[in-house]
Amino acid sequence: MPAKVLSGKDISADIKTELQAKSDQLHEQGVTPRLMMVRVGEDPASVSYMKQKEKTAGQVGVDSETVVFPEDASEETLLSKITELNEDPTCHGILVQLPLPRHISQDPVIEAIDPKKDVDCFHPQNVGRLLIGNPYLLPCTPHGVQQILVRGGYSPEGKHVVVCGRSNLNGKPLFGILIQKRTGANATVTVCHTSTRDLADITRQADILVAAMGAPKSITADMVKEGAVVIDVGVNRVEDPSKKSGFRLVGDTDYDALVDKAEAITPVPGGVGPMTVTMLMWNTLTAAGVQSGIPVD
Ligand SMILES: NC(=O)c1ccc[n+]([C@@H]2O[C@H](COP(=O)([O-])OP(=O)(O)OC[C@H]3O[C@@H](n4cnc5c(N)ncnc54)[C@H](OP(=O)(O)O)[C@@H]3O)[C@@H](O)[C@H]2O)c1
Repeated sequence: MPAKVLSGKDISADIKTELQAKSDQLHEQGVTPRLMMVRVGEDPASVSYMKQKEKTAGQVGVDSETVVFPEDASEETLLSKITELNEDPTCHGILVQLPLPRHISQDPVIEAIDPKKDVDCFHPQNVGRLLIGNPYLLPCTPHGVQQILVRGGYSPEGKHVVVCGRSNLNGKPLFGILIQKRTGANATVTVCHTSTRDLADITRQADILVAAMGAPKSITADMVKEGAVVIDVGVNRVEDPSKKSGFRLVGDTDYDALVDKAEAITPVPGGVGPMTVTMLMWNTLTAAGVQSGIPVD
């Protein structure tokens, strides 16, 4: 039987309905949840991601605004904007779109954001809180992966989850979420990377396999146990002359080969991608609730 397709599009639609209710609760109490986004330069992928974020904000009653600096803006200019937003009581969430131009260091920028407004959950204080099991917010993509699993009927509790990729964006925080002794987590988690010996031997042990490598179609059918649940975080452009754009998006797994072997699988696009933006709005509403003293969870 072909795998159940775990649609991030459908699951995020359900979550957005819940977020709208939280947003209504805040609006009724006179609070307008507000997300401020900052971009330096005109990187086309960043422009497109930010448009998607603005659109999703509008769908759940979050007021959003994007501040754009020219490509050659200085680090001081960016830091001073962040200070201004930190001090602005009408701004509940701050997002600086990454990557930044080379002349700006990422770490000081991330660390300048008030942890209470850090809706990406990249600030070291929030990363530390996540790891010790006392999170303020959860990082968007890994939280989206957890929600797909739980809402899709595949709770990671007691399961062996193998995560391929150890980035600060995906692999490490997903480990931080799933390892906790909590409902919807409580998994045995193995994290693999490019120095992992015999990757296939480990991935074949996974009840739940998460691919977050940025390596197109590199998880093949022989690397997956019959009946495993496969979550594909990867978003990779591959050339496709049949498309007007000249490319199409593929994940890190060989979807067509896995669909007959896995119990359930996420598509690319339409899997983890839509969840990431939705979880950003989840964080913005939680942050707005905390900052205004109106808990919405
Ligand atoms: N769906 C979404 O919303 C979303 C959000 C963010 C990112 N993404 C996508 O997710 C993918 C990963 O992004 P990222 O930022 O986490 O990437 P990254 O920073 O490049 O990290 C990739 C990780 O995968 C490991 N890796 C790469 N190739 C591997 C291989 N062949 N075998 C084992 N491990 C391998 C690397 O190991 P080393 O540490 O040893 O180098 C590294 O830890 C990309 O396709 C990106 O576009 C999707």
